Amino acid sequence: MRVLGIETSCDETGIAIFDTERGLLSHCLYSQVKLHADYGGVVPELASRDHVRKTLPLIEQALAKAKLSAQDLDGVAYTMGPGLVGALLVGACIGRSLAYGWKIPAIGVHHMEGHLLAPMLEENPPAFPFIALLVSGGHTQLVRVDAIGHYELLGESVDDAAGEAFDKTAKLMGLDYPGGPRLAALAEQGRDQQYQFPRPMTDRPGLDFSFSGLKTFAANTIASAADDAQTRADIARAFQDAVVDTLVIKCRRALQETGLKRLVVAGGVSANKHLREQLEQFTQSIGGQVFFPRSEFCTDNGAMIAYAGAQRLLAGEQSDLAIIARPRWPM
Ligand code: KG4
Ligand code: ZN
Repeated sequence: MRVLGIETSCDETGIAIFDTERGLLSHCLYSQVKLHADYGGVVPELASRDHVRKTLPLIEQALAKAKLSAQDLDGVAYTMGPGLVGALLVGACIGRSLAYGWKIPAIGVHHMEGHLLAPMLEENPPAFPFIALLVSGGHTQLVRVDAIGHYELLGESVDDAAGEAFDKTAKLMGLDYPGGPRLAALAEQGRDQQYQFPRPMTDRPGLDFSFSGLKTFAANTIASAADDAQTRADIARAFQDAVVDTLVIKCRRALQETGLKRLVVAGGVSANKHLREQLEQFTQSIGGQVFFPRSEFCTDNGAMIAYAGAQRLLAGEQSDLAIIARPRWPM
């Protein structure tokens, strides 16, 4: 089964074609980063308009790259939510309509299920069951995954997502949008233990997170610190260490509590080098294993939507003719 995947939930237009027998056949990504940079964040109306401009040309490009035509497709998957409603509607309208015109089934996919399954596109995919740490700009969640569609939420952020904390702290430090990766790059220059940030909610039981306090802690630290390059890098390092430590502590707890040894980490923040290293080290220490998507599939992309949609279609699910976007949608 060959499935076209369409991702337009935020500021990337991601298109891909996944074949359930041959794997990923092609993928194309257009990032709107430059469009939103002047505004310091994503402007929803501009995002929707750019998805309108880019989605169809990218679909043509993905088909050409895979040396396929529309008649070779067996299904269309599009991100139905959560995300920006206008941006989602573009992908949903185009995806649902193309499937109708091509007389093939369509399926609306949950964006976080896409992220969660992204490591399945790698050479050595994890076997079920596993614990998934989903860390993106909008979500921080620990999920027990027993099979596709069998998800149990174990814990989540009660306020800001980890990526959001990275972005907001980066903004405080005067770094341009998108702040997360820039802050991570600055942290590489920082020295160890120059500042001590808290590890929120690690001193009590449970698997929930809270990251908004770290941003406030960073604001206070910046206000009372010197304004030179090394100090800024030291603060970035201390902030990143705190986020990563907190995530590792909660992953350890989730594995301990469930008795599982396999950990999957996905979403934009899973591209973070320090997080990857720390989780590799920790899972090795307990004889477990950690699985990540390749870097380009950590952040939003069409491949994860094509994959997740293909699994849903294979299981006999499909969406009806209504064009639906769900800006808020629990997984
Ligand atoms: O999954 P994603 O592309 O979009 C959402 O679904 O939210 O994640 C984007 C988030 C942003 O907050 C971005 O700053 C963060 O992932 N991010 C990173 C890194 N790369 C992306 N955060 C920390 N370190 C990185 N290397
Ligand atoms: Zn995402």
